[in-house]
Amino acid sequence: MGFRKDFLWGGAVAANQVEGAYDVDGKGLSVADVATYKPNVDVKDYKKNVFVSSETIAEAMADKSTKYYPKRRGIDQYHRYKEDIALFKELGFKAYRFSIAWTRIFPNGEEETPNQKGIDFYKKFIKELKDNGIEPIVTLSHYEMPLALALKYNGWADKRLIDLFVKFSKVCFENFRNVKYWLTFNEIDSVTRHPFTSAGIIEDKTENLEETEYQALHNQFVASALVTKLAHEIIPESQVGCMLTKLTTYPATAKPGDVLASMNKNLMNNYPADVQANGAYSPLILSYFKKNNFNIDMTDEELKTIADNTVDFISFSYYMSLIAAEDEDGLEMTTGNTVVGGKNPYLKATDWGWTVDPMGLRISLEELYDRYKKPLMIVENGMGAKDVVEEDGSIHDDYRIEYFKQHLREMKKAVEDGVDLLGYTSWAPIDLISASTSQMSKRYGFIYVDQDDEGNGTLNRSKKDSFAWYQHVIATNGEEL
Ligand code: BG6
Repeated sequence: MGFRKDFLWGGAVAANQVEGAYDVDGKGLSVADVATYKPNVDVKDYKKNVFVSSETIAEAMADKSTKYYPKRRGIDQYHRYKEDIALFKELGFKAYRFSIAWTRIFPNGEEETPNQKGIDFYKKFIKELKDNGIEPIVTLSHYEMPLALALKYNGWADKRLIDLFVKFSKVCFENFRNVKYWLTFNEIDSVTRHPFTSAGIIEDKTENLEETEYQALHNQFVASALVTKLAHEIIPESQVGCMLTKLTTYPATAKPGDVLASMNKNLMNNYPADVQANGAYSPLILSYFKKNNFNIDMTDEELKTIADNTVDFISFSYYMSLIAAEDEDGLEMTTGNTVVGGKNPYLKATDWGWTVDPMGLRISLEELYDRYKKPLMIVENGMGAKDVVEEDGSIHDDYRIEYFKQHLREMKKAVEDGVDLLGYTSWAPIDLISASTSQMSKRYGFIYVDQDDEGNGTLNRSKKDSFAWYQHVIATNGEEL
């Protein structure tokens, strides 16, 4: 009744948070390269952390340094990948989820031919994983697209992005044929929460932001469906998944008004997976567009493409849960993964305000499996925390072990209840730059990286206590948790 024998235990990262080398070997600037680390912004002030305007982009482009643009330096995995993969092998990883930087393959997104150096890098990277018995799980788009496409087209607001993304993906499939698992867009639902990071939409260039976001999402659905088709044609044994930010929301009380409020939040959270897994929009979403006078350009041909090319499995991130009420005035609000919402008074929270809800993972797994009846994969789950390095170099991160232990126990119960779960990749096995705050001090790894928020440090890797703990979990295939 435990995990399947070929369960994909591993870890997950994104190119823009680990690679660094932002201007090496022909790479173009991406939207992540203009994301600023703002030392004075309250880490809980989510909006201020992610807001990017035309003005801040211009400032960033004029500044070539990496000090306050940490995603440009990452943790230098571009040069240190062999060392990192050796550590993942020691952990016993069966899988490693990473993303391909579009800007390494097509620096501005519109070149006629791809950048060979970018292709060569990922070939070497994938070979290293395979040589170490680690299955690559590749995300095609993880909060990183050519900045040039954001500036020229306002990103995914424009349908021309579809063909450009298909072209990029085709190069990936043709060159990395030995990759079986592909994810199209990371946390695709997040377009409506941080439209620049997810879709290259510059808010001050947009008249009706919400309408533009839904249009961009639709364009990504079409691109995702076309790419799913292409993957199946070029790599017949490939498995393509969508990727959702699972933001499970409970009603604040049993009052029907609160139940309705939470239902609506969950509907809006799940609808992108509905489109990608079921091949159609929920009628409730189409009616929402109508009621709000959102005029989304979707053709019959596009809807057919979406219907004909659904994903093979559903992947998702899960960190925390929220609550909702009919009247939000009385709710204490808190930050979560790319979101601000009602804080559950029954749960503790991390230093960043994200509630810790292990049972919410079981609830999410069972809800998603019942809803889609397709295999699931947890491709992100973890805890950002400040770690203390002792004088002898050791790092006692028992809080992280506890977080994982509780979540994995609930995950196991969901599997025992009948959920078909393909794998689990923790976020993140190695410390990296935070997506939302661009901090280094918000650490997730089993492996510590010596670097501070402003880029000082040796970048040396060392093992935290959680390293041996996760190693044992994998060695026993989750038998001993
Ligand atoms: C997810 C993203 O939203 O959560 C990751 O897919 C991100 O890129 C992770 O790093 C954790 O969020 P943060 O903001 O703490 O880095």
